[in-house]
Amino acid sequence: MYQSYGETLSHIKARIDDFEPEVGIILGTGLGGLAKEIEVVHQLMYAHIPNFPVSTVEFHSGKLIFGSLNGRKVVAMQGRLHYYEGYSMQEITFPVRIMKLLGISKLFVSNAAGSLNHEIKKGDLMFIEDHINLLPDSPLRGSNNEQFGPRFPDMSEPYNKKLLSQAYEIAKRHKIRVHKGVYVSAPGPSLETRAEYRYMRLIGGDVVGMSTVPEVIVANHMGLPVFAVSVVTDEGFHEDLQPVSLEEIVAVAAAAEPNMTLILKELIALR
Ligand code: HPA
Repeated sequence: MYQSYGETLSHIKARIDDFEPEVGIILGTGLGGLAKEIEVVHQLMYAHIPNFPVSTVEFHSGKLIFGSLNGRKVVAMQGRLHYYEGYSMQEITFPVRIMKLLGISKLFVSNAAGSLNHEIKKGDLMFIEDHINLLPDSPLRGSNNEQFGPRFPDMSEPYNKKLLSQAYEIAKRHKIRVHKGVYVSAPGPSLETRAEYRYMRLIGGDVVGMSTVPEVIVANHMGLPVFAVSVVTDEGFHEDLQPVSLEEIVAVAAAAEPNMTLILKELIALR
């Protein structure tokens, strides 16, 4: 595994002409608008990068995009890996390790999520302050590579406080309604039952989704500051649960996306 990082890294470096990304970006399903604003300098298909996991059809067309965004050099993943697709936690987080080895000093993440908290409505944005991992595994399980980080990484500030306050200021300036709260990662792919939404609310969750936590654990392992935002696409209120469809989730994500994109774009530009 460790040898594969070197192989992947030299393959990428040989194809990006000394481009040194400063920040990494992983965008959620239906939330790719920010990637469209990148002035692309290089792009590599995942399928052509050695050791990149590409077993599902969707991921086969994924790309690693290098370019500039609002004055910063970025690397963005177009196409995200989810646990429910069958990848191991190590596979999901392999690209995060690679982005760090390429030189990023911050990671920005977005996702679509269901609300567990009546204050947080469909179409709202929530900055993630903390998380609860309900995936049945950790990307750090197995032998630890000390070159990346410690065996027992601290998780007292998984989401960088400075980035959170900067993002909050940006939202305030643009009069965008935002919340802060706790993201619960569920394995999926089925949505939650009424009893599961109730349980997740009881244990302290504000929203639930099927991504983000593996990447954030690995970023913290490597000491990489993270900012993450959820776009609330549906309401998992156990008292009165309504059926939701993927079409609806995608439509709500699309409607809320411009505000999220605006905040991320300004946040990324700050030093
Ligand atoms: N549950 C889990 N994942 C989700 C949801 C949800 O309600 N909405 C969007 N992603």
